[in-house]
Amino acid sequence: MPNPFGTPHRHFMVTDSTNTRARELVEAGAPGGTVVTAREQTAGRGRVGRVWTAPEGKALLYSAILRPLDQRHLLLPLSVPLAICAAAEALRPGIKCQVKWPNDIWLEGRKLSGVLIEAKPQNGWAVIGVGLNLTIAPDEFPSDLRQPAISLFSSRVGGLPPTTSTAAEMLSRHLDHWVWADDDEVLDEWRRRDGLRGREVAWEDGSGVADGIDDRGNLVVVTVGGDRVSLGAGEVQLRL
Ligand code: BTN
Repeated sequence: MPNPFGTPHRHFMVTDSTNTRARELVEAGAPGGTVVTAREQTAGRGRVGRVWTAPEGKALLYSAILRPLDQRHLLLPLSVPLAICAAAEALRPGIKCQVKWPNDIWLEGRKLSGVLIEAKPQNGWAVIGVGLNLTIAPDEFPSDLRQPAISLFSSRVGGLPPTTSTAAEMLSRHLDHWVWADDDEVLDEWRRRDGLRGREVAWEDGSGVADGIDDRGNLVVVTVGGDRVSLGAGEVQLRL
């Protein structure tokens, strides 16, 4: 069994992007399990070239090195959101998180967390980047977000929010399980938490109704003409 996530753990008060720091570390030979967090990012990166912003100290900004990366991790884009759901539910008991293909985490129909995985399979590593909104107030989210966002804690729900370091430890604990879980367990849990099933989705070349995932983690869509098509996360961008 490789190092548990969080050993070692490097924390920055400010950095450009924890994923960039983690990539430097892995390329310099850092072991699997290494975690980088930051209180603030000046150039946080999201999927498909988007920026990711969060007010200082109000989100978990977390990047973990997975090494070795191998055939056991073909469903990594699915297993990471499942770990985040489990961590969020442990940090705020009573909530129920859902996943939105390919790897967003939803709470009450709004985006709670996003994942940016950057991998070099030929070198046997991946960096798992996670942004998890902890205490960002509704009026602190950028007004031009594609999807409405939410935090784990807000003045509306009350409760004592965790520190970012507690949140990091909780996420590491759940990644230790989900990153190494069997494919069947990952697929079952994804299907249980699937928030996209039955919803209309559109992409560059078509539209239809989401009908779950296949065993390789592709999104299955039933098109208007009745065809079933499988969409790979690298190939399509959904419009909801
Ligand atoms: C997305 O939903 O587009 C993915 C967002 C991922 C953001 C996190 S914050 C920590 C890590 N460092 C980055 O620069 N990005 C990821």
